[in-house]
Amino acid sequence: MRTFDMLINTEDVIGHINPEIYGHFSEHLGRCIYNGIYVGEDSPIPNTHGIRNDVVEAFRNIKMPVIRWPGGCFADEYHWRDGIGEKASRKKMINTNWGGVTEDNSFGTHEFMEFCDLVGCEPYISGNVGSGTVQELSEWVEYITSGNVSPAADERRQNGREEPWKLKYLGIGNENWGCGGNMSVDHYCSLYKQFQTFCKDHSGNHLYKIACGPSGSDYDWTEGMMKGLKTPAGWTAKGISLHFYSVPDWNNKGSALEFDENEYLELLGTVNFTDELITRHSQIMDRYDPKGEVALIVDEWGTWFDVEPGTNPGFLYQQNTMRDAIVAAISLNIFNRHSERVKMANIAQAVNVLQALILTEGEKMIKTPTYHVFDLFKEHQNGDAVYCCCQNENIGGKKDVPMITSSASVKDGVLTITAGNCSLAESADITCSVHGMEIGTVSGRILTNEVHAHNDFDAPDNVKIIPFTAAVRDGKISMKLPPCSVVEVSAR
Ligand code: AHR
Repeated sequence: MRTFDMLINTEDVIGHINPEIYGHFSEHLGRCIYNGIYVGEDSPIPNTHGIRNDVVEAFRNIKMPVIRWPGGCFADEYHWRDGIGEKASRKKMINTNWGGVTEDNSFGTHEFMEFCDLVGCEPYISGNVGSGTVQELSEWVEYITSGNVSPAADERRQNGREEPWKLKYLGIGNENWGCGGNMSVDHYCSLYKQFQTFCKDHSGNHLYKIACGPSGSDYDWTEGMMKGLKTPAGWTAKGISLHFYSVPDWNNKGSALEFDENEYLELLGTVNFTDELITRHSQIMDRYDPKGEVALIVDEWGTWFDVEPGTNPGFLYQQNTMRDAIVAAISLNIFNRHSERVKMANIAQAVNVLQALILTEGEKMIKTPTYHVFDLFKEHQNGDAVYCCCQNENIGGKKDVPMITSSASVKDGVLTITAGNCSLAESADITCSVHGMEIGTVSGRILTNEVHAHNDFDAPDNVKIIPFTAAVRDGKISMKLPPCSVVEVSAR
């Protein structure tokens, strides 16, 4: 058992935690949309207009705030008119990015917007710049948001939707430095400005436009975008994206289920790098935008392992263990601590792909350890992130991995602390002093198990949240975290 002192100052507010920091990503990739979110109206699996009820219910429970769609790389080859109108006459196409399978477009704009309505979350649409046109994207925005008489709005009415939807988040291109067109930053930045000019605010709708930002540590891309995005009339984007997957070696991604302690530590070293990454991109952004008018939107993050043996390599289906839970806890704590600049983050992906929250097999559905971390952290949404510092010790690894990860926020007079013990061998006895708030009562929940532990279709609750006992002693909060655990403590 190692002992630690933690200090929280509720009077030192770092930033507001936008609910969207707990956001998600869904792509026409493998079984994320089809079988994962959408099974079609004729399916025996309980559904609402083809959308799985069990998945909707699970996402409602964690207060899913936003979901990005239709990609990813898929977005820059997606033509939205292929996915509207009578399903039988929708175009069939090849999903060239992901397995070369047939995409029948039965899940399109109306289905996505209905999914968001059912979950109660904001839609985040990623528009096609790589292979699309300015007119196509402009008309998609008009189709979705215009209440006027216009060709696109009338087309929507003919397809059964009288009222326009509200659409806040609009991404203009995805990874345009790579699968979205292999562009240089200057070329993309010019295209971005052209495309965004014609994406208008219709009928009282206000778009929050997001430009394609850097891949990982490509600081030059951030510099180029920040240099080019401003016009004499002001910023042309509300946010730029950042994509960062925690993969120590892209040539040897390793198995999601079988790994040793060295691989575990190496992965955690990479995850912790997220902090430096955001700090350095933010420093560049601060130089051009000292008022913080442009947000950093981490709209793809998570683990990426080899696919499960016997599954389609193009489907990116991987299992999810307590290791992923620790990764999620470290990442979300980092985003909370950067909530001044980071206004949205979207884990990749929601169902059946990469670091998924949910896995499905036919009518069965399981919640992964990562899902449970989102459950533990949900009270941070809309809170104020406050100063939280834990004296720390490294547990090894080439990059020195700190044993404790933590963050804290205050909302409606309640202090929420989320902490993780990354050690696989030792418990952590944390004594937390809280400045600025008198602590009366505490309650908590915990996720803990052996690091390889996971849920599967025969043992769906092998890893689950259970109550956690924290105590108040001499006005301080005492928390004993077992090895490989994530806790949430509420204090009032
Ligand atoms: O999430 C899988 C893929 O990773 C996305 O399609 C792409 O944007 C990224 O490279």
